[in-house]
Formats: sequence, C-alpha cells, structure tokens
Amino acid sequence: MKDYPTDNQLLSESELMGQATTAMPLQTVTLHVPSVSPRHTNGAALEASNFERGALLEDYRELLVIRPELTRKIVSYQGNKAQPGLRWMRYKEGFSTALVKSALRKADGPVLDPFGGIGTTSLTAAASGRPSYSLELLPVGIRCAKAITLVASSFSRSDIEACGEALLKAVRKGRKVDSKFCFPHVPITQLAFPEETEEAIARTRYALDGIANPDMQLVLDVACMSVLEDVSYTRKDGQYLRWDYRSGRSLKAHWHKGEVAKFDDALQNRLEEIATDTDALKALYDGKPEPVFIQGSALNKLATLKGRSIGLTITSPPYANRYDYTRTYALELAWLGYDKTAFSRLRQKMLTATVENRSKETWLAQTHPNSGTLRKARIAVEKQAALREVIASLDAVRTSLNNPQIIRLVTNYFCEMGLVIAELARLTIPGGRVVMVNDNVQYHGEEIPVDLILSEIAETLGFECEEISVLRCGKGNASQQMGRFGRRELRKCVYRWKMLGA
Ligand SMILES: C[S@@+](CC[C@H](N)C(=O)[O-])C[C@H]1O[C@@H](n2cnc3c(N)ncnc32)[C@H](O)[C@@H]1O
Repeated sequence: MKDYPTDNQLLSESELMGQATTAMPLQTVTLHVPSVSPRHTNGAALEASNFERGALLEDYRELLVIRPELTRKIVSYQGNKAQPGLRWMRYKEGFSTALVKSALRKADGPVLDPFGGIGTTSLTAAASGRPSYSLELLPVGIRCAKAITLVASSFSRSDIEACGEALLKAVRKGRKVDSKFCFPHVPITQLAFPEETEEAIARTRYALDGIANPDMQLVLDVACMSVLEDVSYTRKDGQYLRWDYRSGRSLKAHWHKGEVAKFDDALQNRLEEIATDTDALKALYDGKPEPVFIQGSALNKLATLKGRSIGLTITSPPYANRYDYTRTYALELAWLGYDKTAFSRLRQKMLTATVENRSKETWLAQTHPNSGTLRKARIAVEKQAALREVIASLDAVRTSLNNPQIIRLVTNYFCEMGLVIAELARLTIPGGRVVMVNDNVQYHGEEIPVDLILSEIAETLGFECEEISVLRCGKGNASQQMGRFGRRELRKCVYRWKMLGA
C-alpha cells in the first residue's frame, strides 16, 4: 500500500522531515550511494538487488494501464505534421495537439508546460480558450511558437506573400554580401552546407537584417531557420546530428542523406506553407488568450510563478536517455548567433540528460535561497528507495559502464526532476492535474523505472498518482546495450497525477 498524505494537503516540511527518518543529509543534493553489498557479486544476488524496484512495481501495478488509443503518433511530433503553424519546424521531440486536447479535459484552469518545446501545449490550450504558460530553455521552439501567434494576430496572407517574395528576390539575386552575414558556424556545424547554400544563406541574412518591422523579421527569420536541416548535409536522428559523407567531415559511417534541397527552393516552400496557414491560424487563435512564452530554465523560472495558479500541467521533460538538444539543434542555435561558449553554457543549463551535464547544486542553492520547495524536493528524492537501489547497482558496475558519468546523469536527473515536481506541487490548485509523457531508460542492463520513481516522488510531494498509461509498444533499449543485454522493452508512459487538498 502507498501512504497518501492523509490531511489532503501538501505535506508540510516538518511532516516530510518526520516521515523521512532514513533520509540523507539535506545539505547535499547528491544522492547517497550506499557501499556495494556482497550480494552484487553473483547472479542470484543481482536479482535481489531489484528488490526495491519490485516492491515499487507492486505498489503501482494497478495504476499501470495499457491504453491502446495512446499510439506513438499521438505522443510524438508525427501527429503535428499537418497542423497549421506547428508543421513549419520539424521539432521531433514534440508531442501532438491530439494528446494535449485529450489532456485538457482532465482539469480546468490555466495550463502550464515547463518544458514547452515548440509550444504544442500552450498553443493548443490557447485555441481552446485557456490561459497558458510555456517555459523553454532553447530559443528555437520559443521563436517558432511566437511566429505562429504573430502570423495569427498581426499579418494577413498577402502581407506574408509580399514580404516573402521580396526576401526570395534578394536571396536569388546572386549578389556578394559582406562576410559578416555569413552563417556563424561553430565547430559542430562546420561543413554543414554546400558552398552555394552558404552563399544563399549569407544573402538571406543580409536581407533579413534590412527588414524594418521586427515582427515580420521574426516570422521570416523562423521561416529560414526552419529549412536549415533540409538544406544541410545533416539530419536530426537519434542523439546527435547525422552527417552525410558529402559534407567532407571525417566520419565513421558512409551515410547518404539523399537529395539536399536548394536553399531558395526550400525557403519558397516554407513561405508558401506559412501564407497558406495564415487564415487557419487566425481561426484558431484570434480573440483567444495569448499564451505566455518564457525563455529560461524551468529549474529557476518556475519559482517566479504564483503559487496555486495552475489548473493543469501538460508536459514532456527531456528523458534520462543521453539525448543532447544542443547538438540536435546545433544549426538552428548557430543561426541564432550562439557561439561555442554560449553552446556550452546552454548545455549545462539543460535538465540533466547527458553525461556531460555537471551538477547544478551550487547554482540551485544560489537561485533558491532559503527555498522550502528545494528542501522538500531534496527530501522526497533522497527517500526514494528504488532510486537508491538503481544508483547502488550502477555504482557496483562503475568500472564496466561505457561512461562512469552515467551515475551522475541518473542522480542529477532525478534531483532536478524532483525540484520541478515540487514546484508543480506549489503551483497546482487542489484538484488540478499534471499529465507527463516520459520514457523509462536502461543503463548496463539496469532498468530504471522512471515512471514509478517520479510518481512516488510526486506522491511524497502532495500529488496522488491516478494512472500511469502505458503505450502498447514501448521502446527497445539503445542499440549499444542491445548486443550485451538483449532486447528489453522499456515502458513509454503518460502519467497523470492529481493535486490533493480541499
Ligand atoms: C520532450 S521536449 C518537449 C517538447 C514539447 N512537448 C513540444 O511539443 O514541443 C523537452 C524540452 O525541454 C527543453 N528543456 C531542457 N532543459 C530545460 C530546462 N532546464 N528548462 C526548460 N526547458 C528545458 C528542451 O529544450 C526541449 O524542448
């Protein structure tokens, strides 16, 4: 049996302290890694090291429900490919408007997405007349979402057509422009474009620079940014950008992307799409509450929102799977002027999901001075027994891990997600809901039940887990792991938590 908070209130700090009799010291955000016990040394004993995860699964078994209607298309960007506005940029990590529409029925009130991406949650909420907030660290998605709302509110189809035509004319003129307008490459984007595309891009940046209306400039800038992948020798694929051998980079694999679009042709297609979507976007958003887009890290920006002001959170955080958004969106970030230093700063600010992420403990302490929310989060994470077991099991095989920083990744992922959940507990009105899409992960054959661990942390912090909806077909483990540990299906889930309280 799970112990739900009995007073229907968010647990007070003293209650949390009282419950957390075995909690780790509060001064550290890092989870205590117990010393390795001898039971890790043989197969039967290894099974015993799953004890806490087994117990957690038993606790939540009844709440794990396979929902055939939850298809991969619904929880991924695929469902948005025909959506006005959202179809402009291939934001592969997004989820669909269909998922958001169904989640909107779960609770009333203002809607929040702390990991807003391209703004699917906020835009869909706005279209249904709901006020919404979207936090997002990368400027790429935020700019696309803003362009969508600008086209809906401020421009007619003929405005877009006229300005788009003028831009294309300048791009096609073939004039040499000052080198300061060249694509501002960083090492990870070098050689991404054919020579003639580099020249077209420079002419485009020169023409964009001369546009007087900042709103139109933003819309056209987004149009250009959205075709960079198509006109490059790269493809967003898996954890990194995949490179075509024609780029001339030194590569392990001889991969051919197929035809690489010409910049002006790709831009023309996108501009036509934007012009075509204008009326549909007005129908969707005109006269509706304007979504609020906040650029920055959820880890400190959530603290700036007013308590008990959110009815429903619909979100999908980065998964704990080593996926690096700053590499996947390298072309777009470089287009926006991020240099090498800005890239590495941004990477360190992302929710920890890669082995390169260092601890944010000092920064969190500085940005949350005397924060009860941070303290509650730490206690809730530290008392999570299955997580301690995972960390201990990984620590026991530290020398065989393909990267020992995986332990730091897993530890900090849950510490940071604990803080996000504690903030959601502070923000959500009683009866409000959190709907979260996330994948379980596996390292070195150790399955990490992210769904169960986060749900139990959420319950410690004042939510009740109503359901963990499971996709019929989960995800296989990463190919490097498959060879050594066999194929194991990892749950891909949508969790629903209800805020307790009168
Ligand atoms: C799975 S995607 C969400 C996509 C979104 N649901 C959509 O439909 O576009 C996770 C997002 O979290 C963002 N992110 C990563 N770390 C963040 C942080 N610390 N604060 C805010 N956003 C962050 C990533 O840039 C990425 O866009």
